[in-house]
Amino acid sequence: MLERYINEYKARTKRSRELFDNAKMVFAGGVSHNIRYFKPYPFFTTKAEGKYLHDVDGNVYIDYWMGHWSLILGHSHPFVAERVIEQASNGFIYGTVNKISLELASIITKLIPRIEMLRFANTGAEATMYAIRLARAYTKKRVVAKIEGGWHGFNTELLHSVNYPFGNEGLGLIDDKYLISIPFNDLSSIDILDKVKDDLACIIVEPFMGGAGAIVGDKGYLKGLEEYSKKNNALFILDEIVTAFRFKCSSMHDILGLEPDLITLGKIIGGGLPIGAIGGKKEIISLASPEFKKDERCNIGGGTFSANPLTMTAGLATLEYLKNHTYLYDELNRLGDIARREIDKVMRSYSVKTCTTGLGSLFLTHFLNDNDEVRNARDASLCNIELQKLYHLALMVHGIFFLPSKLGAISIMHNENDIKQLIEVTEKIASEIHL
Ligand SMILES: Cc1ncc(COP(=O)(O)O)c(C=O)c1O
Repeated sequence: MLERYINEYKARTKRSRELFDNAKMVFAGGVSHNIRYFKPYPFFTTKAEGKYLHDVDGNVYIDYWMGHWSLILGHSHPFVAERVIEQASNGFIYGTVNKISLELASIITKLIPRIEMLRFANTGAEATMYAIRLARAYTKKRVVAKIEGGWHGFNTELLHSVNYPFGNEGLGLIDDKYLISIPFNDLSSIDILDKVKDDLACIIVEPFMGGAGAIVGDKGYLKGLEEYSKKNNALFILDEIVTAFRFKCSSMHDILGLEPDLITLGKIIGGGLPIGAIGGKKEIISLASPEFKKDERCNIGGGTFSANPLTMTAGLATLEYLKNHTYLYDELNRLGDIARREIDKVMRSYSVKTCTTGLGSLFLTHFLNDNDEVRNARDASLCNIELQKLYHLALMVHGIFFLPSKLGAISIMHNENDIKQLIEVTEKIASEIHL
């Protein structure tokens, strides 16, 4: 089996081990974001370029984590890097309004016309927190419906029913009586919402569940949620923090024929620098205007760093590049299709039952237990996650980085040979699982 890879990983990452011991003295669990922790300990990165990550022990990895899926152009793409360097000598943060933010907003509203108006924040967690506050302000209702397994960042209100078995998500949170969770990809349970429909402010959903395991939402299901929201005067919020500009040079609502009232954005629109954004109908977003009196306004951020010129520059350069090279999406999506198909093929040829889910350039291999498919967060949790983590650790030893048990993202720096290599290494690992 794959346990030997733990020792091999340790042998290759001795300096990381020392640094991790130090990190544990100053950071809880040695990390500043729990997702970055994995067993036996994470390696420390010293450099990233193109499709590669370099660690402190001199190992080089082909990176499929890609800055937590925020980099579709690869690390430090020259087109973006040059503009960021130029901007850096012109000021990191002005603390005043700037023209670059207008340019980024303008390209976003052109490419996603459903976004009539938007506000920039610094993280996705902020964007979703503000989106539900805006929904409550606009509808004058209180209840927020989210999806079991839905991940919208670490904001207090939406940190509910994230991990299976759904419910308590840890210490420090209080029961939120105005939050209700519903299953993913199962419209038959939507009547759970009937009891709160008169007080329902919004339904927030990822069209493609990222954190929960690379699971695509059924079109009919998502449309059903939208219709239920509209019928009950609640807002339909699509969390596109992962999906916008990932599958095409726009957002995913277009692909699915959805008409969300609000869309949250992040990751790719910041070009690798911190960002979040809430966009949508003008009459909703404009509630944030400082020109309104306090009791007519919905106070949402930004914050100190929102719309800072460095992030705006990186985001603008990234979207301009994508807009001028839209054909790249065909290749990204094609490589993802190959990865999904071929990984399962080689796994099954060694009688390892897997299901590689995802869409376009995002994919994740689940190791099936009793289930035959992965349609929601519960299905994903019932798979063999320990084996999934070992598979990813084994890939690391072979110089390929997936954050253990998290979905992989292909960037324009990856090519067919990288995918072939991933499949070859997967075949080797599959043969060892089979032993
Ligand atoms: C769908 C979704 N929403 C929100 C967030 C939170 O974004 P951030 O980590 O920038 O706060 C994430 C992060 O991965 C996400 O995947």
